[in-house]
Amino acid sequence: MIWLALILAVGLAGALAYWQLIIAEGAYLGAPLVALLYDWTAEKYNSIKEFNDDDEDYCLGRPLATRLDGGAGVTILDVATGTGRIPLVMLRQPDFHGRVIGVDRAWKMLTVARRDTAHLGERVSFIQADVMALPFASNRLPVVTCMEALEFLPNPQSGLAELVRVLQAAGKKNPGRGWLLTTNRVGWEAKLMPGKTWSREQLERILGRMPLALISIQVWQDIYDQVWAQKIAPN
Ligand SMILES: C[S@@+](CC[C@H](N)C(=O)[O-])C[C@H]1O[C@@H](n2cnc3c(N)ncnc32)[C@H](O)[C@@H]1O
Repeated sequence: MIWLALILAVGLAGALAYWQLIIAEGAYLGAPLVALLYDWTAEKYNSIKEFNDDDEDYCLGRPLATRLDGGAGVTILDVATGTGRIPLVMLRQPDFHGRVIGVDRAWKMLTVARRDTAHLGERVSFIQADVMALPFASNRLPVVTCMEALEFLPNPQSGLAELVRVLQAAGKKNPGRGWLLTTNRVGWEAKLMPGKTWSREQLERILGRMPLALISIQVWQDIYDQVWAQKIAPN
């Protein structure tokens, strides 16, 4: 009987650890642990994700460059940039002429990003910071992206609000600004992350309460929807 209880306890502890550390990637245990787990896998991250340049261009680079209409003088803030996915995809778009600032909490992810974008020169830069307290003034950045990261934040809804806070609003003089591109986790794993992910309806409601227009939640991958919206200046 004792052996059975012991086996059950070990099994439960293993399942709990798998849920917290592998599926939720430390999300319920605090931002320092999430960043530590990413630092441990930083060198392997790109091969785990198997990014495909053509897919990335088609799904991310071209839609963003088109919305920015050339993007001359536009700075994209890529929050939770990881190994520099958005800087890499944007700077190979022939019709994007702006620059990208990548922010992440995980130092080794940023080290890989800096190394892999070194050839791109001064159009790319990186800052180590936490999504929950971005080191930028409000209404500052013309475009904000945050891919595949909201669900790992201590409070995803506050993180989303922080992205919108630093985003510059589009107005009559700058109609091509104010774009937010982010993701929402979907699929069966999303159901194992209560409080960290939203149904499409919930997310629409949350975004609808923010100063955002043109809200669009698009099916993208098995585990992520793409979320687009534009911040608008109050009348
Ligand atoms: C799945 S990766 C996504 C990286 C990149 N956006 C991409 O699409 O490849 C999640 C990233 O979020 C970062 N991250 C998680 N929590 C963070 C926080 N509180 N502040 C800043 N970065 C955070 C991690 O360090 C990691 O680089």
